[in-house]
Amino acid sequence: MTSTPRKKIVIGITGASGAPYARRLVGLLRDRDDVELGVCISQTASEVWALECGGELRESIGVPVWGVRDYKAPFASGSAGWHAMAVVPCSMGTAARIAHGISDTLLTRAADVMIKERRSLLVVPRETPLSVVHLENLTALARAGAVVLPAMPSFYGKPATLDEALDTVIARVLDHLGLEHDLVRRWGAR
Ligand SMILES: Cc1cc2nc3c(=O)[nH]c(=O)nc-3n(C[C@H](O)[C@H](O)[C@H](O)COP(=O)(O)O)c2cc1C
Repeated sequence: MTSTPRKKIVIGITGASGAPYARRLVGLLRDRDDVELGVCISQTASEVWALECGGELRESIGVPVWGVRDYKAPFASGSAGWHAMAVVPCSMGTAARIAHGISDTLLTRAADVMIKERRSLLVVPRETPLSVVHLENLTALARAGAVVLPAMPSFYGKPATLDEALDTVIARVLDHLGLEHDLVRRWGAR
C-alpha cells in the first residue's frame, strides 16, 4: 500500500506583532498527518512572543525550532524539495531582507530558496501605516512570486472571540498552503 507523501512546509516567525497568529498556525500544522513541519525564527521573534503569548517561544511552541543561523536545516537548500513556506508574522525588516535576497539567517535563506525554486512563499506582513519603502518591498516580493497576505482579519463572519478573528487570517494562509480545513465558514456556504 502506498501512502500519500506529506507536504513539507516551513513556518518562519519574525519579530513583528502577531505572535498569536504563529502560535495558532503551528498548533494546527503540528497535529496534521499530511504535513512535515519545519519552524525557524528571527532573532527578535522570541521577544515579541514572550510579550504577546507569554513564556519562552522554544518551550511553549510545542515543536522543535531550528537555530536562527542553523543552515543545516533541510529547507536551507533547494535540493531538499520543501514545498511551501509562510512567514507569519512578517516584519518589515524581514520583508526587506527577503525582497533584496539578503539571506543572513535560516529564515531569510529559506524564503530565498522558495523564490529561486519557484515554490510557494507566503508573507503575512504586520505593520501600520505602510511607508513607500514597505510597499515597494512587498511589491518586489509579489513580483518575485510570493503571495502577500496581510494579517488583516475579516469581520463579515462575525468573529466572537480573538481566536476566531485570528482564524480569519489563518484560514487564508492554509488555503494558500494548499491544505484543507474547516476553520471558518466559507462565503456562500450554507
Ligand atoms: C513588541 C514589538 C512589536 C513589534 N511590532 C512590529 C510590527 O508589527 N511590524 C514590524 O515590522 N516590526 C515590528 N517590531 C519591530 C521588529 O521587531 C524589529 O524591526 C526587528 O528588528 C525585526 O527583526 P526581524 O525581522 O529579524 O524579526 C516590533 C517590535 C516589538 C518589540
